[in-house]
Amino acid sequence: MASLLQLYSLSSAPPPLLLLLLLLLLLILPTNPSIAASATLPPPKTSSPSDAELVLAKIKPTLQGNTENQLLSSWDSTNPLCQWHGLTWVFSDGSPLLCSNFSSPHRSNLSLFKDPLLQLLSLQLPDANLTGEIPRDIADLSSLKSLYLGFNSLHGNIPLEIGYSPSLSDVDFTHNLLTGALPTSIWNLCANRLAALRFRGNSLSGTIPEPALPDFSCKDLRVLDLGDNEFGGRFPEFITGFDGLRELDLGNNLMFGVIPESLNGLRLERLNLSHNNFSGQLPIFKEMKFGAEVFEGNNPGLCGYPLKDCGGGRRSGLSSGAIAAMVIGLMTGAVVLASVLIGYVQGRRRRERGDVESKLDEGDVEENVDGGGGGGEGKLVLFQGAEHLTLEDVLNATGQVLEKTSYGTIYKAKLADGGNIALRLLREGSCKDRASCLPVIRQLGRVRNENLVPLRAFYHGQRGEKLLIYDYFPHKSLFDLLHDTRVGKPVLNWARCHKIALGVARALAHLHTGLETPITHGNVRSKNVIVDEFFVARLTEFGIDKMMVPAVTDEMIALAKTDGYKAPELQKMKKCSSRTDVYAFGILLLEILLGKKPGKDSRSGEYVDLPSLVKVAVLEETTMEVFDVALLKGIRSPMEEGLVQALKLAMGCCAPVASVRPDMDEVVKQLEENRPRNRSALYSPTETRSEIGTPF
Ligand SMILES: *[C@@H]1O[C@H](CO)[C@@H](O)[C@H](O)[C@H]1NC(C)=O
Ligand SMILES: *[C@@H]1O[C@H](CO)[C@@H](O)[C@H](O)[C@H]1NC(C)=O
Ligand SMILES: *[C@@H]1O[C@H](CO)[C@@H](O)[C@H](O)[C@H]1NC(C)=O
Ligand SMILES: *[C@@H]1O[C@H](CO)[C@@H](O)[C@H](O)[C@H]1NC(C)=O
Ligand SMILES: *[C@@H]1O[C@H](CO)[C@@H](O)[C@H](O)[C@H]1NC(C)=O
Repeated sequence: MASLLQLYSLSSAPPPLLLLLLLLLLLILPTNPSIAASATLPPPKTSSPSDAELVLAKIKPTLQGNTENQLLSSWDSTNPLCQWHGLTWVFSDGSPLLCSNFSSPHRSNLSLFKDPLLQLLSLQLPDANLTGEIPRDIADLSSLKSLYLGFNSLHGNIPLEIGYSPSLSDVDFTHNLLTGALPTSIWNLCANRLAALRFRGNSLSGTIPEPALPDFSCKDLRVLDLGDNEFGGRFPEFITGFDGLRELDLGNNLMFGVIPESLNGLRLERLNLSHNNFSGQLPIFKEMKFGAEVFEGNNPGLCGYPLKDCGGGRRSGLSSGAIAAMVIGLMTGAVVLASVLIGYVQGRRRRERGDVESKLDEGDVEENVDGGGGGGEGKLVLFQGAEHLTLEDVLNATGQVLEKTSYGTIYKAKLADGGNIALRLLREGSCKDRASCLPVIRQLGRVRNENLVPLRAFYHGQRGEKLLIYDYFPHKSLFDLLHDTRVGKPVLNWARCHKIALGVARALAHLHTGLETPITHGNVRSKNVIVDEFFVARLTEFGIDKMMVPAVTDEMIALAKTDGYKAPELQKMKKCSSRTDVYAFGILLLEILLGKKPGKDSRSGEYVDLPSLVKVAVLEETTMEVFDVALLKGIRSPMEEGLVQALKLAMGCCAPVASVRPDMDEVVKQLEENRPRNRSALYSPTETRSEIGTPF
């Protein structure tokens, strides 16, 4: 302004154009406060910057390092906050910031940008080519809860300020280039209910720091993954006081010394202590939960089940101690016994090949055999395809609990040749008597379909032990694929989801109409669908309810209710039918389409009724918003790609009145008729890994 005035006074005869310009400027200036302020007034008092300002001034340059980053270029004050990649924002009342908030004209994006009430909730940029460092200023983001920056190239040390972050509770820096020590301050996060801490795959070193306080517990921490680093020192024993811990990975580090016995007091679901230099005697874990792979690659002095016997026993084969442990672990010892028996039968079969094989062709072989383990007579029924086991294989097998259900326990048993089998040991008293059980099992053993997990054998011991032997499939359950929030799982786009849904539908159609005697599944749910790397779905657990005593069947139905799969008519008549299977399939299809867990949420206790969610969305005309965002990736028209039809189909399956639900043949037909167009993603399973939480 001053310069223009000078210009004016200097020119004796101002040309009219300049005057006009000046006039214009004078008119404009007062209305534009930022320019007016900078030109005439002292700078405003500095209040603390808003989160968005902080992100732009400090977080962005530090994360980005020296290379301009494509995704971070969306973090720009001229761009509405809702479009900044990888960030989620909340207002002070906890309501989320959505792009629709920008459509109201009185809220300019600039005012939001400076709004101290708008706070950053999460920063999720996995696999985003970040080459900088972890910003120290993270501690100034008062509402930041989760930080997912795995699979980048962040380098440097972990700043100790990270521990002063007031809300941070979920931290993932998997696979970066971080060096130096883990700061002691990290345990401060436990006061924020730290739930997961992942630094796998960096070059962190030093010992894992002890918390500053004695008897410290981090009771909400569920996942601690420090694997694939260079951590040294002894096993951090204080961790065994973290009661809530379910997954612990210290694999591939440089730690040594004894693994403390107190580790077996934790209810761990996953453990990895492999490839360190641990020595001494292993703790005795309940139920022989962990296989040898959990401890492999340590000091040769490391011993005890599942590794070699500490008393100098042989390494190969099951030591008597291990057998005893296994027997205790499995309560009845049926696994060892049955496995020995299978081996025995196989050995005999080899000797009398022709004879047995002709029986196999008919469907199954049944043998009354002498229990070699001293268990007296038992009954073994073999079905087609159970040829691969030998006595030696089975003697070297190690068991691992996969899951417990209301009626029994599921084990993965590893054979020495590398093969695996899945075993279901039925809980004592859960099963009907042998005479009424056997016909059902024979029927189940004959079922063969690409989308069903085959039952290979059944063992019924003298003392009533009952064991179902299935093929083992190593891949994930649909439940894990849909709801596990870990980074690195395959993206479930529509083409893949459609393939999975069709697979499950075909499996059910086969059970309902493809057999001489129809079978109802009785327990359709995403946990019972195993999905392989080519997205072939295999349904398991079919027909098991038929073998159970009524009390257990009731329990199964009660659980189906909690988990949201129970058809309304089961309230009165407790008997599953093909119609109740169709209902459960409808819920499963909605679960896929919405990406939401049905039923009671174990954390919040809230009950999620998926059909109601869809009904509400349809009434409010927001149908397109119910779909899982991952599903819509690359979809131009949800109508042309069959998504909308699938939603309608799912709702039809969930009809409260059983008689109006379609049958499974109809479901298969409709899914086949409404396929997604672009199915190329199906054929390259390793392509696109998930960027979970990145909302774009
Ligand atoms: C946000 O504000 C900037 C600067 O005021 C403006 O250039 C931009 O067009 C605005 N964007 C939207 C979507 O309103
Ligand atoms: C933002 O938009 C959502 C949905 O349109 C609305 O529920 C919420 O109240 C809005 N928040 C503000 C602060 O305008
Ligand atoms: C990361 O960088 C590579 C090569 O520099 C580029 O091809 C890729 O698109 C980038 N990825 C992202 C998410 O920016
Ligand atoms: C254990 O960790 C090692 C090293 O990080 C890894 O190679 C191995 O696959 C892991 N094993 C299991 C069972 O997770
Ligand atoms: C493992 O520990 C033993 C002593 O217990 C030591 O002699 C050996 O060098 C260590 N191995 C490695 C690879 O650090």
